[in-house]
Amino acid sequence: MNNRDVQATRKYHDDTKHSPWSVRNNPHFLDFANRPLPFKLYPTIEPRRLPRNLPQTGVIALSAIAEPVRSPRTETVPDFRDVARIFYFSAGITKRRAYPGGEIYFRAAACTGALYEIELYLVTRDLPGLDGGVYHFNPADVSLRLLRGGDFRGNLAQATAMEPAVAHAPAIIICTGTYWRNAWKYQARTYRHFGWDNGTLLANMLAVSAASGLPAKIMLGFVDAEVNRLLDLQTRREVSLCLVPIGCVPAGSLPAPRQAPALGLETVPLSQHEVEYPAMLQMHDASSIETEEEVRHWRERRSADTSSAPVGEEIRLRPLSEEEQPKDTIEQVILRRGSTRTFDKAASITLSQLATILDCATRGVAADFLEPPGSQLNDLYLIVHSVQGLSPGAYFFQRDRNTLEVLKPGDFRAAAYHLGLEQQLPADACVAIFFLADLERILEQYGNRGYRAVQLEAGVIGGRMYLAAYAQRLGCTGLTFFDDDVTAFFSPHAKGKSAIFLLAIGKPLKGKAQ
Ligand SMILES: Cc1cc2nc3c(=O)[nH]c(=O)nc-3n(C[C@H](O)[C@H](O)[C@H](O)COP(=O)(O)O)c2cc1C
Repeated sequence: MNNRDVQATRKYHDDTKHSPWSVRNNPHFLDFANRPLPFKLYPTIEPRRLPRNLPQTGVIALSAIAEPVRSPRTETVPDFRDVARIFYFSAGITKRRAYPGGEIYFRAAACTGALYEIELYLVTRDLPGLDGGVYHFNPADVSLRLLRGGDFRGNLAQATAMEPAVAHAPAIIICTGTYWRNAWKYQARTYRHFGWDNGTLLANMLAVSAASGLPAKIMLGFVDAEVNRLLDLQTRREVSLCLVPIGCVPAGSLPAPRQAPALGLETVPLSQHEVEYPAMLQMHDASSIETEEEVRHWRERRSADTSSAPVGEEIRLRPLSEEEQPKDTIEQVILRRGSTRTFDKAASITLSQLATILDCATRGVAADFLEPPGSQLNDLYLIVHSVQGLSPGAYFFQRDRNTLEVLKPGDFRAAAYHLGLEQQLPADACVAIFFLADLERILEQYGNRGYRAVQLEAGVIGGRMYLAAYAQRLGCTGLTFFDDDVTAFFSPHAKGKSAIFLLAIGKPLKGKAQ
């Protein structure tokens, strides 16, 4: 398969669209007896427990989300406690809730269906308190398990064609996606969820790294097979999605790549039986990078400027000033975060609360696919129901101008109910934010891998919105949607764009379990 043969993405995207017809005619049911384990368990490897009582960074959540750490001139090396903080606040268990079949362990970041298909690994040199190696993170017992001893960072530097952020990193986190764990419920649409659920987790990871004073960046440019081999993944079941180099040291300390023979380590089966969805394997293959040459090529392209001149009336956005901003730390906000289950339809939020969320979430994601820094693949369209100072209606977020452009005024609660897969949440929230992207332009520029990029970016921005909402003691939830109906609703402005992501923000209904 070839990354440039973008017909593969068009087919996957079209085939996994939700429409009222496709949802009503899907015979799929949830087989609870075959529900997958939410953890990857290596029964033969001893755990290396991560410290639990971590010192708080004390960094205010809204600034941790919005302000990335610039690459420092001096060395920044995480210690064992930094590693523990980053893992726990990205993917650790923060809440437990009983349900008739057992208990659900909710995690630091939102995830479709609470199925937690994203796994985390660490490739590190010796760090204060931790020997060099390739480790797997297990949130169930908050521990690392050593898969390979020694410093394998040279392998990742090679797989990324000597990407400077990787070559200079003392530690690199790798995020993977496990198909079946999410496809049990969502079938072939899971490949989109990889981006969304990896993205929300990365929003936390980038914020906590920033709060710890450690630079971090998302890398999609790597030779897939080399990274998968290093982690010893069975690639029909689990695949590497992105790399996140953490910290900065002189490149001279980088070792040469080492042999990484197959390990064949035993893991506990997720279910009695698994169902494979070929559409996802094809999509992944088609968006894979096969050579270092291709990686270099990937790095050279630049994001397109997607700004469009406003036509409608514009409303200027004024985020809360630093003095007005809530002061809860990033850790407090992550522990408090959840997905709102019922919004208070009678409530409203202020325009500056909404402006603060949009501002914090869209200042730019540190990622190798976003050049120049600060560019963005997703465009944001809003249905406003009850925001003080803003008439109900449909709007376009003019990011560069920091304004909301009026597309059409009106009460669109019924439309939001429909577009959000006939769920009450987007109708009862104060605002529903739709992410749309010019997929054709993205594919032309990035090939099929652009599809991974646009879904992932949406998840990161969505994850930041969750945090920015909860920092202000508001409620928020991710949602899914009827693809083509979303585009039609926002057209003619959105003509030709594809629906990528949806999020609703409002106030939780008091007295209701959230
Ligand atoms: C991208 C995304 C889409 C979601 N879609 C829906 C949805 O359509 N309906 C819904 O009720 N919850 C939805 N959720 C919320 C998840 O069910 C929720 O994140 C998960 O149960 C974990 O709970 P928590 O966020 O409270 O930790 C979505 C979450 C995400 C991140």
